Amino acid sequence: MSVAVNQGAKSRPRQVAIVTGAARGLGAAMALGLVEAGIDVAAFDLPESDDALQDLADRSRSLGGAYHPVHADVRDYASCDTAVDAVLARFGHLDILVNNAGIGMLDVLSGDRFQKFYEQDPGFWQRLIDVNLNGAFRMARIVTPHLVARGAGRIVNVTTSFSTMIETGMSPYGPAKAGLEAATVIWAKELSGTGVTVNVLVPGGPADTRLVPVARVKNREALIRPETMAPPLRWLVSPHAAGITGRRFVAKLWDDRLPHEQAAAAAGAPAGWA
Ligand SMILES: NC(=O)c1ccc[n+]([C@@H]2O[C@H](COP(=O)([O-])OP(=O)(O)OC[C@H]3O[C@@H](n4cnc5c(N)ncnc54)[C@H](O)[C@@H]3O)[C@@H](O)[C@H]2O)c1
Repeated sequence: MSVAVNQGAKSRPRQVAIVTGAARGLGAAMALGLVEAGIDVAAFDLPESDDALQDLADRSRSLGGAYHPVHADVRDYASCDTAVDAVLARFGHLDILVNNAGIGMLDVLSGDRFQKFYEQDPGFWQRLIDVNLNGAFRMARIVTPHLVARGAGRIVNVTTSFSTMIETGMSPYGPAKAGLEAATVIWAKELSGTGVTVNVLVPGGPADTRLVPVARVKNREALIRPETMAPPLRWLVSPHAAGITGRRFVAKLWDDRLPHEQAAAAAGAPAGWA
């Protein structure tokens, strides 16, 4: 049962979403999932991902054509600000931010294990935190005032499984994601009553993207399909989830055959550790 968010809503303008890191992996799957629901997607990614962005823009034309590539680097506040301005200039408004851009531990892969924290280049720690945690803050800092002014909006932060946050070998990836999980709870509280919701969406285990190196998981069939993220995301950005905030949803637990309230109850829990 898919949620056609913009269908039948002739009086409302089409929803506009920014998905960061939308050129591949989970971001691409979520962006295309939103396009299928009739949403205009500004697909943010690095300039070096341009070929992948353009391929997806071509693919999206057969789905209604609403995937718009935008070069933006979440490590750079000015780059994010300029890119958001371009989205606002093109569409006139903004409804949804999916903070998905992230880097993994590939740079510190040593054989089939990740280096321990005391073996790593300190620059790696800084780089990863800057993309996976600070990048989400930069985007939310820029986008949220526009959502609050509209009295409605959705922020969806992609964190990770709680077990990954504290798994041996997952520093600094785990701490960055734990930080974003905590930020989600705080942001949801601070935005209470504004009409803007903040939630977490995770796959619920390792997914089949380049972030999970073949050296670590050879049987790719055992991994979660990136497309698993789309159905719960479509519901989260739909009017049916207007009052849902401060929660975390596990995509692999979402059963799209159920009425969505039931699917959300089975796949959702409070975000963070409360
Ligand atoms: N794959 C998994 O098992 C898994 C599990 C839980 C959470 N996640 C999270 O999902 C998100 C997506 O990861 P993925 O697995 O699809 O990885 P991926 O490498 O396939 O995609 C990540 C995307 O982010 C982009 N990106 C990286 N740095 C950026 C920057 N500075 N500015 C803009 N874009 C940037 C990359 O170019 C890429 O397109 C990440 O936040 C990741 O931590 C992944």
